[in-house]
Amino acid sequence: MSLLEIKKAHLKLDNKQILKGISLSVNAGEVHAIMGPNGSGKSTMSYMLAGRNGYELESGDVLLNGESLIGMAADERARSGLFLAFQYPVELPGVGGIAFLREAVNSRRKHLGEKELDHLAFVKEVRKVAGEMFVKDEMLKRSVNVGFSGGEKKRFEILQMAMLKPTVSILDETDSGLDVDALKTVSDGVNSQRSDSNAIIVITHYQRLLDYIVPDYVHILSDGIIIKSGGPELAREVEKNGYAGIINAS
Ligand SMILES: Nc1ncnc2c1ncn2[C@@H]1O[C@H](COP(=O)(O)OP(=O)(O)O)[C@@H](O)[C@H]1O
Ligand SMILES: [Mg+2]
Repeated sequence: MSLLEIKKAHLKLDNKQILKGISLSVNAGEVHAIMGPNGSGKSTMSYMLAGRNGYELESGDVLLNGESLIGMAADERARSGLFLAFQYPVELPGVGGIAFLREAVNSRRKHLGEKELDHLAFVKEVRKVAGEMFVKDEMLKRSVNVGFSGGEKKRFEILQMAMLKPTVSILDETDSGLDVDALKTVSDGVNSQRSDSNAIIVITHYQRLLDYIVPDYVHILSDGIIIKSGGPELAREVEKNGYAGIINAS
C-alpha cells in the first residue's frame, strides 16, 4: 500500500507558480530519489509536505497512510509519522539535544498510544543510537544545531530519524556540505533505517549520494513538475549528461 501519495500538487509562492502538478506514489519499503537542478522546486515540495506555514497547496492533495494532510499542522504531521530533514537545519538556542529528542519521541509515542519513556531509559536509548550515528555525547548536551558543523547537523538529523522511526522520511539535500567520510557516515545511518514498513525520499542535486543510498526509483523534477521517472540508471544518466539533455528531451 502506498504510504505517501502526492496528487497533482500545485503551489504558489508570492504569486509565482512553483509546483505545477506533482504526482508521486511511494510504497512501504521503497526509497525514492528526487533529483533536479537548483530552483526546480525540491525544497518547496519538502516544505509543502512537512506543512510549513505559507506552503499550503493551491490544488491537489497529499495522503499519508491514506489520510489527507490538507489542513494538518506541521507538528501533527510529525506525530503522524512524517519526518523532514531540512536542507538548512534550524538552530535552537537553549534547547538541549536530549530534551529535544525526548519531547519529539514522546509526543510520537503518545500519538501511537504507547507509553512515554522515562528519562533514564530514554537517555540510554539515545546514547546507544547516537553512538551508531557517530553523534558524540558532548553534542547531545549542547543546544540543538548551535555551532554544529555541517556534518554534525546532518548526523543529528539522522539521529532524530533513527529515534522517531517515521513512516515517511524526506531528506532534503542531506549530502550538501559533506565531505566523503561524512557522506558515508550519514548514508550508513539512513540505510540502517530502511525497512519494509517505512519509506524514504532523498532529495539531491548530485548523483554522488545515490552511490551510497541506492534508490528504488529516481524522479527528475524540473520547473515544478516531474518530467521523468526511472530506476537508479536515471541518476547515472544525469551524472553523465547533466540535466539539460533530459529536460530538452521532455
Ligand atoms: N518565498 C518565495 N517566494 C517566491 N519564490 C520563491 C520563494 N522561495 C523559493 N522561491 C522560488 O521557488 C523556486 C524553487 O525553489 P526551491 O524549492 O528552493 O528549489 P530547489 O530546492 O529545487 O533548489 C525557485 O525559483 C525559487 O526562487
Ligand atoms: Mg533545495
